[in-house]
Amino acid sequence: MKKFEQYIQIYGLVIIAFSYVSVLNTNKHDSNLINISETGASVVHILPKYYATANQGKSEKDLDYKQLRINFGNYSDYEFQTYIGKGASGHAYLGIQKSTKNKVVIKTFKSLKWNSIKREIVFMQTVQGHDLISPLVDIIRNNNSVSLVYNRYIVFPTSQLIKTMTDNGNKLFLYQTLKALDYVHSKGVIHGDIKPANIIANPKTKLFKLIDWGLSMYYVPGRPKNPSVGTKSYQSPEILLRYQYYDYQIDVYAVGFMFAQMIFKENNPFKGTKKLGKEKVQYMHRIARVFGTEGLKEVAQKMNINQDFSDFPNYEPVNLNKFVNADNQQYCQSDALDLLQKMMQYDAKKRITPKDALKHQYFDSIRHQFE
Ligand SMILES: Nc1ncnc2c1ncn2[C@@H]1O[C@H](COP(=O)(O)OP(=O)(O)OP(=O)(O)O)[C@@H](O)[C@H]1O
Ligand SMILES: [Mg+2]
Repeated sequence: MKKFEQYIQIYGLVIIAFSYVSVLNTNKHDSNLINISETGASVVHILPKYYATANQGKSEKDLDYKQLRINFGNYSDYEFQTYIGKGASGHAYLGIQKSTKNKVVIKTFKSLKWNSIKREIVFMQTVQGHDLISPLVDIIRNNNSVSLVYNRYIVFPTSQLIKTMTDNGNKLFLYQTLKALDYVHSKGVIHGDIKPANIIANPKTKLFKLIDWGLSMYYVPGRPKNPSVGTKSYQSPEILLRYQYYDYQIDVYAVGFMFAQMIFKENNPFKGTKKLGKEKVQYMHRIARVFGTEGLKEVAQKMNINQDFSDFPNYEPVNLNKFVNADNQQYCQSDALDLLQKMMQYDAKKRITPKDALKHQYFDSIRHQFE
């Protein structure tokens, strides 16, 4: 195992030639997936810097969340109290566990789509046992619904919080998010939907927890994945380009976008995009207007993606200082901009990893609180 890791570090680049027959068979009904087999036989697949082998030794069956057998708890032990809102996959309620009097949050799935339910449970269970991950208490069902029960935390919508957070708050938030992600990645899991709504915050203690495993997946070298993950603004270039061999680094790009929202104090920090082409093309314009067209083209080429850039103006990369103004300058010191630039690299391989980002000088003033 050690040797294998060393091999990755030394050579970085591993060329995996596929026969693709099995890939084709499993994916032929999924129009979201790029049919690579038609373009040739081999793909240059660059392994992530860390945790490339996290799932080594697991069988296909181990990695198939659909195989999960769910052990249900006692539905009548829970009282649903206040409705707190609707998410993409279900409804959330504040509740109570009658036997322990513990306060809980109950997330009820809108429909009995067993594969989505199993996906969320499997990944949540895979990453259980860390301070920065919300623990799963129980799984319950009645005749027409399935619900997940979590410990309840005092939360404030992070999407609101990031608009008002201080410089110190920004650092605490970002540091914990990266620490949680480094742990999640070490378990061989890509979160897949990093955004403020999926990080719950206790504004008093300044402690955060990562939630929502509905779009998570295992990273296995050379295994293609559906690029329909994440939430638009937070999607990385490789996802927008529909590259199937992405890795943990899609989460870092999403954190980067969130970081930009936090320091520039803007919901849409790189606004000004003209309505050009399809939605995903508009998002590509948005990032190209900041980070340049040339780099995007290069990364598409490197990933062997056939994206037509003929309508794309040749945007020059801009200095991130352009987004600094009198209202946000207190959050935008050069360390912050340096880290942001590193998180939003087009090339996932050049993008800083959570493990390395935790060592960045931006966190020097707060790191001791977590050691
Ligand atoms: N442990 C918890 N304590 C307090 N509130 C929580 C907890 N877990 C979830 N919530 C609240 O419930 C909401 C929905 O949770 P979650 O993100 O898992 O569901 P979802 O249906 O996937 O939502 P969406 O798709 O909108 O992100 C969260 O945004 C959060 O406000
Ligand atoms: Mg969510």
